[in-house]
Amino acid sequence: MSARERLDGTELPRIVVPPPGPRSRAAARRLRRREGSAIWGSEEAPIVWSRGRGSVVLDLDGNRYLDLTAGFGVLSLGHAAPEVARAVSAQSRKLTQGLGDLMPHETREKLVRRLAALGGRSLGRVLLASTGAEAVELALKTAHVATGRRRVVSFTGAYHGQSYGALAVTDYPGLGAPFARQIPDLAIRVPFPYEYRCPLARRCGRCDLACLDSAFEIVDRELRGPDPPGAVIVEPVQGRSGCVLPPRDFLPRLRALTRERGLILILDEVMTGAGRTGPFWAWEQIGEGAVPDLLVTGKGIGGGVAIAALLGSDALMESWRKHVLPSGEAPHSSTFYAHPLACAGALRAIERLTEPETRAHVERTGAVFAAGLRSLQDGCPAVGDVRAAGLMAAIELVRDRESRTPAPALTAAVLGALLREGVLAYPGGVHDNVICFTPPLTITEEQLGHTIVVLEAALREH
Ligand SMILES: Cc1ncc(COP(=O)(O)O)c(C=O)c1O
Repeated sequence: MSARERLDGTELPRIVVPPPGPRSRAAARRLRRREGSAIWGSEEAPIVWSRGRGSVVLDLDGNRYLDLTAGFGVLSLGHAAPEVARAVSAQSRKLTQGLGDLMPHETREKLVRRLAALGGRSLGRVLLASTGAEAVELALKTAHVATGRRRVVSFTGAYHGQSYGALAVTDYPGLGAPFARQIPDLAIRVPFPYEYRCPLARRCGRCDLACLDSAFEIVDRELRGPDPPGAVIVEPVQGRSGCVLPPRDFLPRLRALTRERGLILILDEVMTGAGRTGPFWAWEQIGEGAVPDLLVTGKGIGGGVAIAALLGSDALMESWRKHVLPSGEAPHSSTFYAHPLACAGALRAIERLTEPETRAHVERTGAVFAAGLRSLQDGCPAVGDVRAAGLMAAIELVRDRESRTPAPALTAAVLGALLREGVLAYPGGVHDNVICFTPPLTITEEQLGHTIVVLEAALREH
């Protein structure tokens, strides 16, 4: 076995050196020395990836892993998707940089047109970005220029990225702490309907969204105050907090409440968009009643290239007009705005992601995977909750089902056991007790079935 092994991306894992092997360790040591603590939180040596295809990735030691992370949900078409690679390669021989609004390029025009079509009648305007956080910043800026209001309602457990504006509306333990004095005081935090850990500490058979009523008591009080909010930002399914699925009527009710009050609804679909939950946008599953005013997308939309976008209505996006500089300069820009390589890759990825077969595959394999995860609850009392939407899934581990006490040490141990068997998943949840799965949308049923077998063994062993 060598690191030159041919892959088609549908293989199962094979471990030849216990990970992290010596090459991974050495490369990680060099990286850590040069990059430092900002990006290296853990003392544990990670595995270092060398090559990937489809749902399979190889490390420097020649181990083959089944990747159920897809690089935090980015690789919607798998590692090194050939069609995306071809599009990027062709663009790299044609044009590799534009000149902002002075001289834009053809591929940008095509991508913006494609994204606008995906936004439909209500979200027909597009601004591009390179990361999810950057697109979130654009949404916050747009809401501000449209309403003149600076404050934003956001939810407990929300994750919107790590730039300052995005951190202001993020609520993830510890993330903003070192910079708390620099982070703008924008957010009005209200409870998210996390059924398994009800923010009102209730255990109903069926969530009646009482927390949304209490959230809007807070919002209404703030609306009567001197510094009222102009917008609400929300994830349709909270990703980093561990695939927290709100009840189905949450988004329509939130939409109605925001509309009644003239608040802009920003839907952060960085994780859930591009087909991750089945439909292209997660809100579509819920219907027109949930259509947002602004929609943020990123991650999977590029099929592996760094691109993100903000979609919005004509009226909202036109609010920028009054801020054009006297010189004619645009009020928003960045050197790599609409980078041609990213635009070309995303255009091709979107073509694949919008094929009906892609959605059918996500819905079919997602249902099979969810059923497999649920079946683990029978024999493994530590599996407190199973949550899934398409190919975004998670299991929440607890010390016992009655108390629901989070089990972060067990979570780390199970993730370690999965890694040793060549299955990659990642931790999530505000208590570090959730195992998250966001595999490539092209993953096979056999690969998902193998994951369940390995996961069951890991859970039983611990
Ligand atoms: C819902 C959501 N919004 C925004 C972001 C930030 O995206 P990025 O890491 O590309 O800045 C993330 C990243 O995980 C996310 O899950």
